[in-house]
Order: sequence, then structure tokens, then C-alpha cells
Amino acid sequence: MKNYTSIQNIDNINTWIEEAKELKSNPLKYNELGKNKTLGLLFFNSSLRTRLSTQKAALNLGMNPIVMNVSGDAWGIEFADGTAMNGKTAEHIKEAAAVVSQYCDIIAVRAFPTLTDKEKDESEEVLRSFTKYASVPIVNMESATGHPLQGLTDAITISEHAKISKPKVVLSWAPHIKALPHAVGNSFVQAMQKMDVNFVIANPEGYDLNPQITGDTPIYHDQEEAFKDADFVYTKNWSSYSQYGKILNINADWMITKEKLGNAKFMHCLPVRRNVVVEDAVLDSDSSLVIKQANNRTYAAQLVLKKILENYV
Ligand code: CP
Repeated sequence: MKNYTSIQNIDNINTWIEEAKELKSNPLKYNELGKNKTLGLLFFNSSLRTRLSTQKAALNLGMNPIVMNVSGDAWGIEFADGTAMNGKTAEHIKEAAAVVSQYCDIIAVRAFPTLTDKEKDESEEVLRSFTKYASVPIVNMESATGHPLQGLTDAITISEHAKISKPKVVLSWAPHIKALPHAVGNSFVQAMQKMDVNFVIANPEGYDLNPQITGDTPIYHDQEEAFKDADFVYTKNWSSYSQYGKILNINADWMITKEKLGNAKFMHCLPVRRNVVVEDAVLDSDSSLVIKQANNRTYAAQLVLKKILENYV
């Protein structure tokens, strides 16, 4: 594997999950693999988990991570071709990606969508430009349309906590005060479609995710109906896809409560707004997997970096 930009880069998710569990049981086993190799982490947006877990993963493999907050600290980067750069941007991605490639053996990038320009977001301008102009492998740390490190993490976590062979997994939309991206939801859908699970999506009318991603996965607009016999409820807010980037209404009654959850385990990628997305009683109970889930971010990232390092030419 050269780049990890999408869940679709995973050839066999079951094998990957088993490899990640092995890494988790002995995180320093391959601590010579990345010796004298540098991982550059470029953040166009905020992060806690991705920033720290990806560095931790690199350190476990003996790599040297270096981090930059691109939006705050670097020159404004131009992504359009042939433009006269007489505005806010001072450096073109062609130079920026080529230069960073000389300092780093792998480049990891986080760049969120605009949520105002669907075509631009779906073109994955930032991630695609780094992939095109960098001469080293690229890892997606959450792009406009996908968060594949999170999706792999979620697959590992479900595998670890499943008590039956084909658990029922529900991806449920939940309310939020801000318009949020579709990336986590998209990658979770793609990861579950690769696993042997009974997977359904629950969201209010108007919030269906991109049909090219959801495909044949059943979508319920009745949360209670979707939650029947659920083993895992994975919760995430996203803005409307059909009315792109809009909050149609708050739908506060979609908040996850202990009563709705029943015996299911609760999952969320974090950060989460308490008592808006999910009530305290869920997060503070044994039903919540969110802390264990966040721990698995390290081993998902470590597996991805290991696979890239093993193929490094
Ligand atoms: N889940 C996740 O990606 O968290 P951060 O935004 O804090 O990195």
C-alpha cells in the first residue's frame, strides 16, 4: 500500500482488524521499522485524538513525527492551477508538497470540507493535490468526505466488543448546534459494508448521506424502529447532504438516551457535546465505548503506517 486515503484502500478488513489487535497486544514489536523515517502531520483544522494518536503510532514504530498547524502557521496555500496569486495565498501546493516531501517520508493531512461548495468538497482538492504533488505516501487524517483512520478504528472496536457473530450495528444521526461534515459517517458506512454485521442507518428525513456511499444499506427515518435489537449504536451528527451543508432543523428528540440505547453499546468518534448529542447517563455508563474507541485510534494509525513502511521504496 502506498497511500491510505479511503476505507476502500483496505483489501480485507478482517485481516486488518486481526493485525491491529496484534499490534495492540505488543505495540513496540516493530519499533525498528520506522527508524530514521519522519512522519509529517499537516493540520488545516483542529484535532485532539488524530493529532496525538497518529504521533503515538509513529513513535511506537520508531518514526520521528513533526507537526504543523498549516492554517495558522504556514503561508496560505494556493490549490488552483494557473491562477495569478495576487490574493491571500502566498505559496502554491506544487512547491509546498514538493518541499515537505523532502523533509518527510510520509505526509499525513487533515483538511475539512467547506460545506458550502459540494463540487469542490467532493473533488477532495487538498488531499488530492497532496497525493498528486508530493513524492511520498499520503495518509488521510480526515478529509472533506472521509475519515478512514476513524473508520478502521471503529471496525476494530466493534470486533473487540461483539458478543455474537453478526451483531446489529446502527449508525444514528443525532442533533448538533453546528453544521458538521459527512466524513465520519461516510467512512463508518464504508467500514461496516466490508464487515460481517447487520448494518442499518437511522436519520431524520432530509439527512440521508450520499446515496453513492450508502448504496444498499437500509436507511430508517424512525430511530426507535432502527434501534430494535441493536448491539451497537454509533452516533454522529452530519449536516444535510441533499441541501448541502444545511441544518434543516435541530431534531432534539434524536438525542441518544439510556432508555433508547437499551442493551446496546454506545460509540462516538469524539469530541461529543454532552446532553445535545447524547445524555450524560449514556456517556457515564458501562454502555459507552468512547474511551476504548479513542484508544484504538493509535493502533489503527500504527497499522496503516506499518503497511506503508513495509512497502516503502
Ligand atoms: N475523532 C477525531 O478525529 O477526533 P479529533 O478531531 O480530536 O482528531
